[in-house]
Amino acid sequence: MLPNINFTTTDAYKYLSDHYIDMAGATMKDLFASDNERFKKFSIKFEDILLDYSKNRINDETLALLLQLAKECSLNEAIAAMFNGEAINATEGRQVLHTALRNQSNTPVYVDGKDVMPDVNSVLAHMKEFSDAVISGSWKGYTGKAITDVVNIGIGGSDLGPVMVTEALKAYKNHLNLHFVSNVDGTHIAETLKGLNAETTLFLIASKTFTTQETMANAHSAREWFITSGGNDDDVAKHFAALSTNADGVSKFGIDTKNMFEFWDWVGGRYSLWSAIGLSISLGVGFDNFTELLAGAHAMDNHFKTAEAHENLPVIVALLGIWYNNFFGAETQAILPYDQYMHRFAAYFQQGDMESNGKYVDRNGEPVDYSTGPIIWGEPGTNGQHAFYQLIHQGTKLIPCDFIAPAQSHNPLGEHHNMLLSNFFAQTEALMNGKTEDEVVAELKAAGKSEEEIAKLAQFKVFEGNRPTNSILVKKITPRSLGSLLAMYEHKIFVQGIIWNIYSFDQWGVELGKQLAGKILPELKNNDEVSSHDSSTNGLINQYKAWR
Ligand code: F6P
Repeated sequence: MLPNINFTTTDAYKYLSDHYIDMAGATMKDLFASDNERFKKFSIKFEDILLDYSKNRINDETLALLLQLAKECSLNEAIAAMFNGEAINATEGRQVLHTALRNQSNTPVYVDGKDVMPDVNSVLAHMKEFSDAVISGSWKGYTGKAITDVVNIGIGGSDLGPVMVTEALKAYKNHLNLHFVSNVDGTHIAETLKGLNAETTLFLIASKTFTTQETMANAHSAREWFITSGGNDDDVAKHFAALSTNADGVSKFGIDTKNMFEFWDWVGGRYSLWSAIGLSISLGVGFDNFTELLAGAHAMDNHFKTAEAHENLPVIVALLGIWYNNFFGAETQAILPYDQYMHRFAAYFQQGDMESNGKYVDRNGEPVDYSTGPIIWGEPGTNGQHAFYQLIHQGTKLIPCDFIAPAQSHNPLGEHHNMLLSNFFAQTEALMNGKTEDEVVAELKAAGKSEEEIAKLAQFKVFEGNRPTNSILVKKITPRSLGSLLAMYEHKIFVQGIIWNIYSFDQWGVELGKQLAGKILPELKNNDEVSSHDSSTNGLINQYKAWR
């Protein structure tokens, strides 16, 4: 059982509310000036990852109170409940054990009294065998040719993770061309199939439930394309594999369950890249690299489980998020990787975070009277700098940012990486220090501007600064360090959900739209005028029918 504590009733919350009044006026610039040890104090190293959280609006007392908050919310008990396989996803009656999928130490993990590790290991062995065969070319298509192209068909957690990881690890890619189809918009599959050869294409139908409308529609279209391109029903076995928990659904679709890679309902969709859903990763970068990804995540799991809260990366990052979300009223959190390969990282954690903690009902079933999950967004630097950073620097909203960068590039081209990293360092420095009016005036004077020009311009050029950032410097983005980084963010989401007293592992909010779409679809099959909805929905549907 998870603890059930309203964090706003804790002592720590009360103290933090008072403390916030002091800290709201404090500047990081002064905090740095008065404490030489600040970087040392507020940074943590884990393997090849350095988290510097010193550029936050915190002091020793803030940290102590945030840690007290975690303690009063029984965080340690909650962590133990998750790892020990308690059914902490209570509204679905399920355990939350994505950590078992990467449990490289192979210690037993029990679900209803049964150790799940033998099943986990047997699916991993199947993934290895299959990946090796496809990569080496010994797996042949229906005309005897080796596979050249792999099309993963899935959506949400059955797409975003594999897309993000295969992009982030592109430097490790082999010869197989990977494609991802998610949108039910026919354009997605149509454009993907253009130029593909059915004889050498392998489809992975990735769906935990094997009922998701978009995925099933795309899977059927892929099958039709395969048959019209020359394959027949018997050949499907060589060209279609399923990654799912639903064996019945898979065999009804016509995929041989020998080509099914199983996972279990104790794996949440948005936490499933570590499961059979990761088959496209294993195909794209090889099973050994996939194993390294799991190992990196496992190392972070152990850190999360055992490190003291004050040196625990996921705990610290989560508590800082609570500080801004619940005391400063920040509504969003930007994730800004200075690594082109990680261009889908923020998109991935949009689902991870927002589908997990986008909840307004607490674990008692009562509406909360505090803010929960932040809006997650971001794009890679330096592109973002030339797009939306203006608002981060001089806008009216406080936007805590995570800056992530590798020290070593996979493409060390001339001065590129130093240029990239100079921006990474400069942005957090600028966000913290800002620029005072005196500095602006001196700068304008040095540029030869007149008194009049200076008076006109100065106020627009002032940056108030004091904008908080975390810097996450990674030695190199490798399968292992990426695995650790991903697990760090996953556990951050968990910690925040515990403190907000919400259920982070269900997603009922996405169901209503699905249900209504299911009701509307039959109404679109004829040209009859629709009048069963509100006037806006009726009007839109009827115009659609008139125009299509
Ligand atoms: O619509 C939300 C969701 O249920 C996600 O949680 C999940 O990742 C996605 O749909 C896809 O589900 P499935 O893997 O069952 O097709």
